[in-house]
Amino acid sequence: MNKEIVINLNELDKYLQKINLVFPTENVLNQKIDIESVLNYYRNSSVVYSFIHSYKGSYHLALNYDGIFNKQGFFAQLNEIIELINLSNVKNVLELGCGKGFNSVFLAKKLPQIEFSGIDISEKNLKIAKSKSNRIQNLYLTYGDFQKLDFEDSSFDLIFDVEAICHGSDARQVLSEVFRVLKKGGQFVVYDGFRQNGFESLPDNLVEAAVIVEKSMSVNSFEEIDSWLEMAGHVGFKVKLKKDLSQYVKPNLAKLQLLARKYFEFPFLAKLFVRIFRKYTMLNCIAVLLLPFTMYNKAHCYYKIILEK
Ligand SMILES: C[S@@+](CC[C@H](N)C(=O)[O-])C[C@H]1O[C@@H](n2cnc3c(N)ncnc32)[C@H](O)[C@@H]1O
Repeated sequence: MNKEIVINLNELDKYLQKINLVFPTENVLNQKIDIESVLNYYRNSSVVYSFIHSYKGSYHLALNYDGIFNKQGFFAQLNEIIELINLSNVKNVLELGCGKGFNSVFLAKKLPQIEFSGIDISEKNLKIAKSKSNRIQNLYLTYGDFQKLDFEDSSFDLIFDVEAICHGSDARQVLSEVFRVLKKGGQFVVYDGFRQNGFESLPDNLVEAAVIVEKSMSVNSFEEIDSWLEMAGHVGFKVKLKKDLSQYVKPNLAKLQLLARKYFEFPFLAKLFVRIFRKYTMLNCIAVLLLPFTMYNKAHCYYKIILEK
């Protein structure tokens, strides 16, 4: 099997058909994602993440700036956040959707003089995160919804998100809440997936693939990048940085897609696999199979954004 990433749109219909042979995507396309679906997703897909993707509990894509997959890429977002913290007068930091604690635990250990907080709605993920942070004095992890932050106004110097706020159902609400709890001059750093501008005018098969990717990852729909930035402006933020990092997640996506393609080569085995590991394993495989098509044909993108209050 060709080990190169497959992104050519001529191949997309073939893969959509293969997927449909194993798992009818009609149900996926019509699914409405809410907090309960997000919780179910993380309750049920943690096995897949642990085996094939998640390095030391990280739940995000590696950023490989040299174009070659390397596990150090899982720390790239964090090293950039450290640089930013060191450049500014930051005393306290909040992570939205801290998952199993990979980011906050790493940062709190590296920067013991800074107070870190992390929130997540998944008790399962939080339990794992807390088990890693037992002896870390400058890290406080707690249950919390980023759409309804349980913190006083102007509490934090820096708030960050790595691939969590895409799960929100109300982007304006998230931005307003972050704006409220940031101090004046504070920064909101985002590494996340978005829809490219002009999404609606893409070919039908690409839009279908993109919606399948989103729903399979328990995202109701990614925000269109410029609409989201405009929303941030209305909330009161200034855009300090907008950087398209899509090409740097390619090595990680290539690795994941190769695994998923192997899986869909044998529909009978794949069906058996779904019976044993249930629906969520399948959804993860579908997402990573199609994501390279949508990411490199201008449907999806991966951005680093810095907003300032
Ligand atoms: C892809 S994981 C990323 C975890 C972590 N940021 C990382 O990079 O490893 C997304 C996390 O966001 C959490 N999440 C989803 N919706 C949330 C919400 N409304 N409030 C807080 N956390 C949420 C999920 O439970 C999950 O742990």
